[in-house]
Amino acid sequence: MRVLLVGSGGREHALAATLARSPKLTALFIAPGNPGTAGLGTNVAIGASDIPALITFAKEQQIDLVVPGPEAPLVVGLADACAAAGLACAGPTQAAARLEGSKSFSKDVCYAAGVPTARGERFTDVEAAITYIAERGAPIVVKADGLAAGKGVVVAQTVAEAQDAVREMMTHGTMGDAGRSVVIEDCLVGEEVSLFAFCSGETAMLIGAAQDHKRIGDNDTGPNTGGMGAVSPPRGFDRAAQEAALDVLVRPMLKEMVRRGTPFRGVIFAGLMLTETGPQLIEYNVRFGDPEAQALLLRLTSDLLPALAALAEGTLDTTPVTFSDQAAISIVMAARGYPAAPEMGAVISGIADAEALEGVCVFQAGTKENAARELVVAGGRVLSVCALGDTVQQARDRAYAGVRAISWDGAAWRTDIGARAL
Ligand code: AMP
Ligand code: GLY
Repeated sequence: MRVLLVGSGGREHALAATLARSPKLTALFIAPGNPGTAGLGTNVAIGASDIPALITFAKEQQIDLVVPGPEAPLVVGLADACAAAGLACAGPTQAAARLEGSKSFSKDVCYAAGVPTARGERFTDVEAAITYIAERGAPIVVKADGLAAGKGVVVAQTVAEAQDAVREMMTHGTMGDAGRSVVIEDCLVGEEVSLFAFCSGETAMLIGAAQDHKRIGDNDTGPNTGGMGAVSPPRGFDRAAQEAALDVLVRPMLKEMVRRGTPFRGVIFAGLMLTETGPQLIEYNVRFGDPEAQALLLRLTSDLLPALAALAEGTLDTTPVTFSDQAAISIVMAARGYPAAPEMGAVISGIADAEALEGVCVFQAGTKENAARELVVAGGRVLSVCALGDTVQQARDRAYAGVRAISWDGAAWRTDIGARAL
């Protein structure tokens, strides 16, 4: 099969590496890709959300399957454009991608489907939002309603902090259009995990679970990021509990989407909180997580390509996906200044040394080659160092050995990834 993979992050490098192992793959293109994906296929200089250019390229190259990595192209209609052009796409339509693209839409779907989630209200008026916060009290959560790359959420410990966040987003426009309306939610307390499933219509097939580490600093301190590392499986959330969570949090949503005439097809990533009263939904994402995918895909023991093709065709049930019982971990190395203002340009060394270690692989994200053909920092999350192991402890030791082998001026990482899963 000829595959066009869309995106340029660590998740896409991991997807490319996984697809490259498939005996069914005959050609792999990545738009736009990164220096890591260039070693696995052909990078194409088309932006991930440039739908017309992606479609033209896919038709010219007789692509059999389009695999979307990030949410942005899905939210602007990549799957719909593929369908109109007669191309298979392993991702949801624009209407179904609203599950991720609009927090108030996904709340509506949860309420209609009876999916347990935090009570929340949407506001377009600053004063009304501020009054509501005073009434509800803290802790309380303020979210920009639109897409904000995982950075549009403030979990406020005090009323004043929540009200400041509302003013920042709505009056000062710190989140741009995404923050013109906000959703204010009760705070859920518990262990947060990410649950992944392939979905088509009312069918959901469990992929597995991982735990992300969203804050920039050790012990979950500092601002939220796109994710600083992930471990799979998370502690206290075994396959049986994952299946049970799918029943409560995902399958009713799929039914509701079918009922609305906008069935979901693609990867569902349910962010959830394991609370005292059972799992509660934090949010739906319509794609693999980054850096969860890097860890999860290392554990995959079956061929990903036919599974994604079946997903695109809606024939999921007949294509099993299997995972090893091993543990996997991904540790993000970021640029100094991330997430606010990452510093670019430092020369990266040691990736080959890290990959020479047993069980370790490195997936690139914010990297590029400079004029001297050196690999340099070109984004906030620069790369992720990943490892498999028989236990979380072994995977973790291996990955951190990999991290220590890699260096650049300003490299930053958390030292406690996976600690809670031990
Ligand atoms: P989201 O973009 O909705 O995933 O939110 C980003 C992060 O904020 C989540 O991963 C959680 O860590 C946190 N968060 C979001 N909503 C809540 C909530 N209702 N209660 C507690 N934490 C939350
Ligand atoms: N790691 C969280 C995300 O991909 O949204």
